[in-house]
Amino acid sequence: MHRAAGWVLRGVRNPPKTRSRSGTARSPPRGLVYGQHGEPSAVVQLKDLEEAKLGGSDVHVKMLAAPINPADINVIQGTYPILSPLPAVGGNEGVGEVLEVGQHVVALKPGDWVIPASTGLGTWRTRGVFPEEMLLKVPRDIPVLCAATLSVNPCTAFRMLSDFESLAPGDSIIQNAANSGVGQAVIQIAKASGIKTINVVRDRPDLPKLVETLMALGADHVITEEMLRKPEMKDLFKSIPKPRLALNCVGGKSTTEMLRHLQPKGTMVTYGGMAKQPVMVPVSAFIFRDVRLRGFWMTQWRKDHAQDPAALTSMMDSLCQLIRRGQLTAPACTEVPLQDYQAALEAAMKPFISSKQILLL
Ligand SMILES: NC(=O)c1ccc[n+]([C@@H]2O[C@H](COP(=O)([O-])OP(=O)(O)OC[C@H]3O[C@@H](n4cnc5c(N)ncnc54)[C@H](OP(=O)(O)O)[C@@H]3O)[C@@H](O)[C@H]2O)c1
Repeated sequence: MHRAAGWVLRGVRNPPKTRSRSGTARSPPRGLVYGQHGEPSAVVQLKDLEEAKLGGSDVHVKMLAAPINPADINVIQGTYPILSPLPAVGGNEGVGEVLEVGQHVVALKPGDWVIPASTGLGTWRTRGVFPEEMLLKVPRDIPVLCAATLSVNPCTAFRMLSDFESLAPGDSIIQNAANSGVGQAVIQIAKASGIKTINVVRDRPDLPKLVETLMALGADHVITEEMLRKPEMKDLFKSIPKPRLALNCVGGKSTTEMLRHLQPKGTMVTYGGMAKQPVMVPVSAFIFRDVRLRGFWMTQWRKDHAQDPAALTSMMDSLCQLIRRGQLTAPACTEVPLQDYQAALEAAMKPFISSKQILLL
């Protein structure tokens, strides 16, 4: 069981400057804090945090960069299944550098890079003291933006491509919200394994630019949701097989249309609900094509594999190898200084942005 992270907030306004081991004065840590659930622009504030004491099994981390993901927004809104006790520091993903470690810490040392081992770390902060078991070491030879965005989306993409259908080179998959962080990771991981991707996005004024960007990542086909309903889809399947796996990030109509193209006995995995509409499946899809509907949640996978560290290590090694080979890049992003967090939160909630907001800490 995880101990609570060392983010002490209550009653803190202007904590005194502390001294590092080298004796230099250190400003108090700051973080994006919310004291109640609600719209992020209304409830999130940049505040000084109390300097937490380093316990024997704790690690003092200087955060470097942390993305704003849809789940972070849902946590602040109070609509996510796992909520932190209030007041809380926002953010579930990011990368930091170890500054110092407690006397019982053996697996980490100053200078190491770490990412959260599970959700709820509160990564939108300049520094923090965390129990060792809440952190995972990552190699320092990968780009900082890749490390900052590694623990959620690429892992989700990797698992969904591995765990539901056994795909061989030449097989195809179809996914909606293909320009999302997960979608971009799916395109790249699939490409590296020789799997073809059919990528569905919403129509927009700058569609050709988005198509070009996704094709440059390795997408085989990029189509709009409207295209899914057109007879021209038959032409597409002259050059690649119908997909055995569909990845659903949206729900509603988009899902129903995508499902039409799934092979008989194929699997659709729902991992996001961006349209906030239920998954609608025609009865015929069950009776005449025996499609399988599954769900995936990375947080649950981590819990289920808590006693199997080799599974996590193997996935992380594979992803880091892809990053080193240039086959997996960080998602298209906008780097935002911490003090501009309001603009970043607003941008993260706008449609058609196609750019992950990453806070520089
Ligand atoms: N189950 C899991 O373990 C797991 C893990 C990671 C992520 N997720 C979920 O996956 C989803 C994507 O996460 P991310 O970090 O990849 O997101 P992201 O990079 O912020 O991208 C959001 C995506 O959602 C699309 N979108 C937004 N509103 C939409 C709507 N009303 N209808 C259709 N599409 C819409 C956007 O498309 P436009 O460009 O057209 O706006 C974009 O493709 C989120 O729901 C997240 O919670 C789940």
